[in-house]
Amino acid sequence: MISRNDLCWCGSGKKWKKCHYPNAPDLAALNKQYKAKYGIFIKTPEQIEGIKAACLVTAEILDALCRHAKAGITTLELDELSRKLHKEKGATPAPLGYGSPPYPKTICTSLNEVICHGIPDQRPLQTGDILNIDVSCILDGYFGDCSRMVAIGPVSEDKKRVMDASLECLNQSIKVCRPGNFVYQIGDVIEEVAKKYGCSVVNQFVGHGVGLQFHEPPEIPHHYNDLKIAFVPGMTFTIEPMINAGKREGVIDEKDGWTVRTKDGKPSAQWEHTILITQSGPEILTAF
Ligand code: MF3
Ligand code: CO
Repeated sequence: MISRNDLCWCGSGKKWKKCHYPNAPDLAALNKQYKAKYGIFIKTPEQIEGIKAACLVTAEILDALCRHAKAGITTLELDELSRKLHKEKGATPAPLGYGSPPYPKTICTSLNEVICHGIPDQRPLQTGDILNIDVSCILDGYFGDCSRMVAIGPVSEDKKRVMDASLECLNQSIKVCRPGNFVYQIGDVIEEVAKKYGCSVVNQFVGHGVGLQFHEPPEIPHHYNDLKIAFVPGMTFTIEPMINAGKREGVIDEKDGWTVRTKDGKPSAQWEHTILITQSGPEILTAF
């Protein structure tokens, strides 16, 4: 629960006791203000129910895919399984046909030095690989988005380190997501955790609002930034830190227009959740 000395839920930057106290957050007023100021949709209780359902299906599909990610299976086969699971659950894969050039598959599978947006292909997974599987679903018009890492057997020290770092970056940054705090604090936490592991934080790609659309405002940077947007109940967004074992720079594949690899060829890892801000703090909607 918000306390009198916390910053007001309205985003004024003043203490609650000097601002809207004792009023609890007024959804209609907030909705208007956040839309006008930032383009952010504060979700209604009805929309939140829809987004929760979409996120649950997204998390279930991701979990099933991760359980199948073993040495010998190709990422194309994981994509085929993903198509089948989406169909079974009455969901649409958001990545398919998304963007320009249109994304060709239903999931992203980012291996080893691939930072993000890896495209499923015929290469079988091998012992020593690390793989990020990223699933984004549309269910009844609402969106969910999450990703996880899988290690295929024992992996190198660098790969282990970057996987652990990215998971801790996600978990620690979720903790600061509550009314009274600001979006830039996510980047502060992630940079600090990454530094502790001797890793770098990718700044070319960011988390994002999600729920009514695949990518909505605001951007959620994982690196140091000064986005002084206050968290308010009803905000839904992703945090998806991309953490590199070496330098932070990434290069987009010129041929496919999507695959992003580390410039130095060192491994990269990413974990992602969709988060809802409630009066009492963060709720992870894609937890399984
Ligand atoms: N979680 C990723 C993102 O938000 C999913 C990318 S799907 C793609 O960017 F189609 F854009 F590649
Ligand atoms: Co995302």
